Amino acid sequence: MQILPLTSEHADDAARLWSECGLTRPWNDPRSDFRMAVSGPSSEVLGALDDDLLVGTVMVGHEGHRGWIYYLAIDQAHRGSGLGKALVAAAEEWIEGQGIPKVMLMIRAENDDVRRFYERLGYVDQGVSVLGRFLDEDLQRLRQGSA
Ligand SMILES: CC(C)(COP(=O)(O)OP(=O)(O)OC[C@H]1O[C@@H](n2cnc3c(N)ncnc32)[C@H](O)[C@@H]1OP(=O)(O)O)[C@@H](O)C(=O)NCCC(=O)NCCS
Repeated sequence: MQILPLTSEHADDAARLWSECGLTRPWNDPRSDFRMAVSGPSSEVLGALDDDLLVGTVMVGHEGHRGWIYYLAIDQAHRGSGLGKALVAAAEEWIEGQGIPKVMLMIRAENDDVRRFYERLGYVDQGVSVLGRFLDEDLQRLRQGSA
């Protein structure tokens, strides 16, 4: 098993894995998210490759102040063997290597399993609320289920 930065050729495999892991939403295009992350100067998608098979991912990035983790996904057959923990460690190493001292992530409110996973790794609630608004009104309607 190798953990490596992915390139645009992995976009379809990553999108498939994210979909299988329940991480995609109709208002997000996962391939576009992937391509933007692997081509930007302040982000990467790290992948766990079992030979050529993509079995895990984590997206990392920073805005100069905090590092962020997204799209942590391990395929079903490879869960429970430490791969999620290894990808989070790789993401933390990448963020620290960029000179960023803090890592943050968002968990969907209903995702208690993942909250417990991150708590096991030492992550704690930061006592902040995340507010957001779509700048595109079509996306806002889609998010509210009226489109
Ligand atoms: C969450 C996820 C990444 C965990 O990956 P994994 O490879 O199975 O986790 P690991 O085997 O590395 O587990 C690391 C530790 O967390 C613990 N852990 C894992 N899942 C857990 C859970 N649901 N509840 C409590 N602890 C958990 C493990 O027991 C292990 O503890 P240990 O170090 O004491 O042995 C994986 O279940 C997944 O891909 N879920 C779906 C996608 C998702 O929701 N991603 C998060 C988006 S925010």
